[in-house]
Amino acid sequence: MNKREVPYKIFLTENEMPKAWYNVCADIKCDPLLNPATHEPAKQEELEAVFSSECARQELNRRDDYIEIPAAVRDFYKMYRPSPLVRAYCLEKYLDTPAKIYYKFEGNNTSGSHKLNSAIAQAYYAKEQGLKGLTTETGAGQWGTALAMACGYFGLDLTVYMVRCSYEQKPQRKTLMTTYGANVIASPSETTEAGRRILAASPDYRSGSLGTAISEAVEAAVTSGGERRYSLGSVLNQVVLHQSVIGIESKRAMEKYDEYPDIIIGCAGGGSNLGGLMSEFMRDRLKGKAKPYFIAVEPMSCPSLTKGVFAYDFCDTGKVTPLAKMYTLGSGFVPAPTHAGGLRYHGMSPVISRLYHDGYIDEARAVSQTDVFDAAVRFARVEGILPAPESSHAIKVAIDEALKCKETGKRKTILFGLTGTGYFDLYAYERFLQGSMTDALPTNEALERSESDVPVV
Ligand SMILES: Cc1ncc(COP(=O)(O)O)c(C=O)c1O
Repeated sequence: MNKREVPYKIFLTENEMPKAWYNVCADIKCDPLLNPATHEPAKQEELEAVFSSECARQELNRRDDYIEIPAAVRDFYKMYRPSPLVRAYCLEKYLDTPAKIYYKFEGNNTSGSHKLNSAIAQAYYAKEQGLKGLTTETGAGQWGTALAMACGYFGLDLTVYMVRCSYEQKPQRKTLMTTYGANVIASPSETTEAGRRILAASPDYRSGSLGTAISEAVEAAVTSGGERRYSLGSVLNQVVLHQSVIGIESKRAMEKYDEYPDIIIGCAGGGSNLGGLMSEFMRDRLKGKAKPYFIAVEPMSCPSLTKGVFAYDFCDTGKVTPLAKMYTLGSGFVPAPTHAGGLRYHGMSPVISRLYHDGYIDEARAVSQTDVFDAAVRFARVEGILPAPESSHAIKVAIDEALKCKETGKRKTILFGLTGTGYFDLYAYERFLQGSMTDALPTNEALERSESDVPVV
């Protein structure tokens, strides 16, 4: 049978969209979160003080490999999903490569990223529980925008602690979140005990980090008298679970044309889009059905997988969260204020960390900011979409892999996650185009110092 010609964009119908998320934790050894005081596995009740009850349940679920997507969440998904799986014919032609390149484009909603996939689920469970609102942090602003959209939709209030360097680089992000009803505060701030403590210890520390913003947002939730809970846009098992919609859709779309990826590439900040893109492809690998090659791409300025230690550590700088077993640079690590704000996180999802540690994620690759922007501009010029700096990490490696195919003559099928758009990152593009962008890498001493602070468990 002749294979059908693959179109530029493969769309599923609404009926073909997944009705359940894939929970990889049912298929792997998934390390528990630990109570930081007792070092005992965190219990459902403890997590419920921080997260909504259903999210706490999902966080601990090691039993169900598929979890039903509530109808209200599926209906919301239909506003912007199924997202297209694009065959990058123009990029292939430009690179003159025999490789077949596909990308799953998640930028087609106002948040401009995949983050809405989990935001709407978390807001739904909070609403169902009768909570008044949520608190969160945001780095680049995509997650904060996504949760603002989701909370606005369900009539919940939302306070967003936004990492100060992003707050200053992208003031329009704040306007966008406020448009959806959120209250946005630059972090570190004087509004929380954690923020005041961090500022008192180092008054010059203004750029902030995701780790600090998380401390502030968790504090705001747990001191709300039970009215609010905290919501996180990455790292956690529940977020990787919700993001599995990306990979399930990708797999179904490829199956329509008898395609299957040889190489799967995702940028990795906290690990949620990569975990989501891998989902059922990883399931195939875990069940011995296929062996795609997985690559996690991270910035050289924040190299948790390539230079971190695999250990229990705090998810935040203020050390108020449970401990997670993950690749970490130490919770006090403050990455340089680079433009991929969503990748400036000291740790990595425990799921991604475990899969990498056990060899199921084959490779982690660290790339420099200027190389990433070079790839972003090349991509934008041939594929039309202006990519987010975070997503452009995956583009950089996808291009490198396609160029390797050009050398070897191999016709590999490459799938990467194009997680979002870069319309709020024009300042960064401008700096790159003017030649004033630099690559700020942490020194070995700085890494040793922050990693030495990882608690002994
Ligand atoms: C567009 C985009 N891609 C990727 C990421 C990285 O997050 P994660 O590793 O959780 O997918 C972010 C985080 O803010 C983002 O905004």
